[in-house]
Amino acid sequence: MAAADVSASNIPALFTPFRLRGMDLINRVVVSPMCMYSSDDGTVSDFQLVHLGSRAMGGAGLVITEMTNVHRDGRISPACAGMYKPEHATAWKRVVDFVHDQSEAKIAIQLAHAGRKGAIPRAWERAKGTLGDEAWEIVGPSAIPFSETSATPREMTVAEIADMVERFAQGARWSEEAGFDMIEFHMGHGYLLSSFMSPLANQRDDDYGGDLTRRMRFPLEVVEAVRAVWPEDKPISARISAVDWEEGGNKIEDSIEISRMLLDAGVDIIDVSTGAITGAGRPTATGLFQTPFSEAIRKATGKPTMTVGNIRTAEDANGVIADGRADLCAMAKWELYDPYFPRHAAVELGYEMPWPNQYKQVERMLKG
Ligand SMILES: Cc1cc2nc3c(=O)[nH]c(=O)nc-3n(C[C@H](O)[C@H](O)[C@H](O)COP(=O)(O)O)c2cc1C
Repeated sequence: MAAADVSASNIPALFTPFRLRGMDLINRVVVSPMCMYSSDDGTVSDFQLVHLGSRAMGGAGLVITEMTNVHRDGRISPACAGMYKPEHATAWKRVVDFVHDQSEAKIAIQLAHAGRKGAIPRAWERAKGTLGDEAWEIVGPSAIPFSETSATPREMTVAEIADMVERFAQGARWSEEAGFDMIEFHMGHGYLLSSFMSPLANQRDDDYGGDLTRRMRFPLEVVEAVRAVWPEDKPISARISAVDWEEGGNKIEDSIEISRMLLDAGVDIIDVSTGAITGAGRPTATGLFQTPFSEAIRKATGKPTMTVGNIRTAEDANGVIADGRADLCAMAKWELYDPYFPRHAAVELGYEMPWPNQYKQVERMLKG
């Protein structure tokens, strides 16, 4: 895929618009999904309104919600976000409406199920121990724990897989009610769908395990079921772990195949992350260590990709887009550090990005 569309004007590549089905983004900066552990039985709170709202006002073209689970038992922690009952759509709608009314950003929901990585305390409480009696039964492709200290999941039955496909579809219907612009499936980092895709976690001997085609069966059923209920003009993204960083796990060649299958089933963009399939360590991450995988998938499939990982500067983000290594640049920790990164990057790259009416005076201030 040529990068010509971004080099045709004087606008820095990072600030060129991007269209996916009927969704128009004003720039290529994406707020990467981040669990916030601030929900009550899956219902998001004022925290998400302010957290996602301020990042939308900070100028990102697209804001992606935290991993939002389609089953109560699919949460990582008791405080994780959900889309498993109608009230959740109402709570999310307030966040979506704010983003649409008060910013030019679009907002996507990351639909997920934690699988064998579920039923643990929120991130900052893990050092204190387990959930004890509060923990629920976890499920996975096979009865293999994520790490030496994790609980062993129960192998899902074929009937449970079919039920989960329907729960993803119901999650998509509620996401449409809430007004989301895009769905992203969390198919990376060892959570349920990702664990079916990796031979390190999936050692089933039925039609849902074995070679790559069989391991992809459940994730593809989810994509097809959601595509059937999700509006035609709204795009779908899939976040994958492009490599497992472990002997015997998926490699980039597998992920190119995985991406092709997902794209054929109705996914529009591949969000390329890596690892976190098992509790084993991963290489020390330096520089834009995940971008080569985005670039490889983009080149092999000719379809859009999103890159993520260690992107912190306007120059790096702009370079990734200008060089055709990805179509979108997702940022997590740097967006926590600087929710106004897109506006700051615009100034640095010499692009005049309009400010919200309430903040218009900044434009005059910048012009000196
Ligand atoms: C606090 C926090 C929560 C995260 N939660 C999610 C999540 O819900 N879903 C997901 O796909 N990735 C999640 N991630 C991973 C980020 O989206 C991102 O891929 C990773 O942090 C690398 O990007 P960065 O170097 O810009 O932080 C999380 C990261 C952080 C820091």
